[in-house]
Order: sequence, then structure tokens, then C-alpha cells
Amino acid sequence: LVVDNANDVIVLAQEEKIIFANKKAEEMTGFLRHELLNRSFSDFIHPKDREALLERHQKRLAGENLPLRNVGRGINRAGQTFWIEISTILTEWKGTPATLNFVRDITSQKKLEEQLQQAQKMEAVGTLAGGIAHDFNNLLMAIQGNVSLGLLETGENKRLHDNLKNIEEYVRKGADLTKQLLGFARRGKYELKTLDLNEVVEKQSLLFGRTKKEITIHSKYGDGLWPVEADRVQIEQILLNLYVNAWQAMPGEGSLYVETGNITLDAEYVVSHNVEPGKYVKISVTDTGVGMDKKTRERIFEPFFTTKEIGRGTGLGLASVYGIVQNHGGFITVYSEVGEGTSFHIYLPASEKKIVKEMVVEKGTARGKETLLVVDDENMILEVASDMLEALGYTVLTARGGKEALNVYENQKDDIDLVILDMIMPDLGGGAVYDKLKAMNPELKVLLSSGYSINGQAAEILERGCNGFIQKPFNLGELSRKLRSILELAKPE
Ligand SMILES: Nc1ncnc2c1ncn2[C@@H]1O[C@H](COP(=O)(O)OP(=O)(O)OP(=O)(O)O)[C@@H](O)[C@H]1O
Ligand SMILES: [Mg+2]
Repeated sequence: LVVDNANDVIVLAQEEKIIFANKKAEEMTGFLRHELLNRSFSDFIHPKDREALLERHQKRLAGENLPLRNVGRGINRAGQTFWIEISTILTEWKGTPATLNFVRDITSQKKLEEQLQQAQKMEAVGTLAGGIAHDFNNLLMAIQGNVSLGLLETGENKRLHDNLKNIEEYVRKGADLTKQLLGFARRGKYELKTLDLNEVVEKQSLLFGRTKKEITIHSKYGDGLWPVEADRVQIEQILLNLYVNAWQAMPGEGSLYVETGNITLDAEYVVSHNVEPGKYVKISVTDTGVGMDKKTRERIFEPFFTTKEIGRGTGLGLASVYGIVQNHGGFITVYSEVGEGTSFHIYLPASEKKIVKEMVVEKGTARGKETLLVVDDENMILEVASDMLEALGYTVLTARGGKEALNVYENQKDDIDLVILDMIMPDLGGGAVYDKLKAMNPELKVLLSSGYSINGQAAEILERGCNGFIQKPFNLGELSRKLRSILELAKPE
């Protein structure tokens, strides 16, 4: 009775034959007990592991001292494979040596281990990608800054102007690449706003439809869509990546279906996606393109996985989509068959907060006369940033690092209207500097800037009341508009 109710399969084997099996063995093998008796136990072992197992069995019966525990693959009546751990003890049966085997199904444990390994691998690559993106963004920032300044000086020289504009275009492409890297590294979720996804999706679809005339976009926007808390730029990035992939999967022409809606997910549904049950907003993007086979489908979210020819795809699109969605507490699913098109579904947690309308300063470059303090640990950035700001009419003070920033601010408190603060500095980080500055003057305006951020840190500072965020590399126009939107809002009526 004890043997029959044991959690493990228990098998007694002599020669190659099973001479006893407990009740649990029926469950694992799919055979009844009397069917198991006198059969070779190797029938229940995967062909690839069979030989090694038999060899061990023979050696053990011959009295050799072998490790107690072994791992291999089992096979059941239906031909399904599963992972087992076998613990073996040498014993005797009717005067001849036999083995007593305890067999345990460890398939789910193995799966968990693999998942954990995969997650650790992604984490490591993510850290690497984030680090590269950060340094690269600083370089791009310096290039962009110099180009912006150069553009102010070109005068009638059209060739020079065009050259500089070209450089600006390449900087933009470089920044797109680092943006994908940051998305994949689960960084860069800087400005969490309560958003109406219908509005974001509609804007992005219109924009995309205008540039890709050969594609017809059909959209269906869910009524009374719940708000979500998200970084607008990253949501736009997700949509653009999915649209571009769909477009590439439909050479010539095709239809793109975009749909939004509310959905409540129960505990059972979310368990495999590792998120909380509750209210979600769902965005579906479906194309009528070439579709994917199973092998491709399984790998699409891996960074640098691409089936496109060299130079066409880097394989970062879906990896960054995946990272961004995860970083927003959501998940993504995919359905696709070869020749049948592809559907992506994105689920983002709904928010209880009210949607905020944003103040947008119109395109163009806006000048100002205020005094600004620029804080960064890199001289290269300090130089271009102050040149750019001076070109816009501002008076500029600089501080190299967090400690110096506090000193400068303390001495010239009354002159400084706004501080542009880098997030990551070795001596004293942006967050700490921010808190200390605010302690000195709760009314101080601070614009946060970074090429990348430690997860959520920028978002936290913004939550504490920081006035805005600008992502490096930024050009003169962007910087000028961001500054005006903060400084104008700050003015008394
Ligand atoms: N809508 C789709 N239809 C068919 N295959 C797709 C679709 N979206 C993605 N794929 C497949 O997934 C792969 C990975 O996509 P991903 O966006 O990550 O990289 P990419 O498009 O190849 O390169 P990148 O986006 O960096 O330019 C693609 O190469 C393609 O094989
Ligand atoms: Mg892509």
C-alpha cells in the first residue's frame, strides 16, 4: 500500500526485465501493471538514452559502483517524451542481484530551469545593450549638437547646409537604433502619462498610411477605451515596428487590420503570461502577408533574429516591442501560419487615472532669455549643450557632475530659472541631485535628460514633480520647444 501510494514510480528490475511496478507506473507509462511485467524497461526510455541506461544497469548488476541518480528521457504508450530522474539502489530478488528504481517526472522542473536560463541570458544581453545605447547616445548627442550649431552658420552655402542636413538624418537613424536597443533592454520608459490608446493608434496609423500608399489600413477603435499609463514615444515605437513588419510581409499590396478594445483577464488566463489578472487594453495588428512557420514564430522575439537579407533587418524590432510591452506590465501574443498572414495582440494594464491633455509647442525653434544651469558629467555634452542654448538666446551656467551642480546652484540660486539635469552621473546621480535642489527651492524647474536610464528611475523623478524629460540625442528644435513648454507654464498668469 505504501509503495502504491508513493509519489515516485517504483520499479524492480532484474536482467532487463521489470519484475515489479507500483500503481504510479501506470500513470507515467500509460500501460496497466500486468502489461508492464516481464517487459524490458528500456521500452519506456527514449531511444537516444536507451543504450546508456542499459549499460549502467548491467554494470550495476555486475557490482560496479555507479552514481545513484541519473537523468534521461522517458517515453509513454502514446509516444510522448518526458524528462525523468531515476534513483537506483542495488538489491537482491530471489537470490540474484536486481535494481530498485525510483523514477520521477521532472519535465516541468526542466522547463522552469530552461525558462530561468533564458531569462538570465536576456537580462545579461539587455544590460549590455543598455550600456552600449547609453554611450552611443552621448556620442550622437555631441554630433547632433555640433550639426545644429553648424546649421545656424551656413548662410547662403546650400551645399554645406545639405551636408549637415544629411548628417542630421544619419544621427536620427543612429538614434532609432539605440531606441530599439533601449526598448529591448527594458529601459527608456521615461515619461509615463495616462494615455488614450485610441488616439495614439489613430495618429500612428494615419502617419503610416500616408507613407505606405500600397497598404490599406482598416481600423476599429473600441468604445470607451480604458486609459493606460505608458510612455507615448515607446507605444508609437511598438506600433511602428509592427506596421513596418506587416508592410514587409506584404510585398506589392495588402491589408492591415488594427483593432483596439477593453478586456478583463482572469487569473487562469494570465498565469502563463506572468502578469496580474484584471483590466487590460488590447491592441491587435493583423496583416494578410506571408505569415510564419513554427520555427520562425518561436524565435521572433529574440534580439537580432531576422529572416531578412543583410542590410534590410537588424532583428531588433520585435525584441524591442517585447521589452517595451513587458516593461509596461503587459504581454504580447502572436498567431501566424505560412500564407495565412499574422496577428499580434498586445495587452497593456488599464489605469484608473484620468487622461491628461498635453501642451505641445508648435514646430520650429523657440528662443528664450532665461538663465539655465546645465548639469552633465561629460565635457563633450556640456560644451555642445551650452553652445546650443546660447545660440537660442539663453544665458548658460554649467556644472560637471552632481556635487558641482549643488555648489553652483547654492551660489547663484536667484539667477537660475531652470536646471537641465543628466540622469546618470558617477559622483551624485540625477535623482539625488534633484531632491537636494528641490529642498533648496521647491519651485525650481528641472528638465531631466538622459541617453538611457536605470529602470524606472527617470519615471520616479518625474513622479516626484520634475517638469519634463528629454531623450538624448536631441536637436535644437526639440530642446527649444521643451524648454518653452516648461518655462511658459511656469510663468504667473
Ligand atoms: N508580420 C509579419 N509577418 C511575417 N513575418 C514576420 C512578421 N513580423 C515579424 N516577422 C518575422 O520575424 C522576424 C523578426 O522581426 P523583427 O521586427 O524583430 O526583425 P526584422 O524586421 O527582421 O528587422 P528590424 O525590425 O530590426 O528591421 C522577421 O525577420 C520576420 O521573419
Ligand atoms: Mg522589423
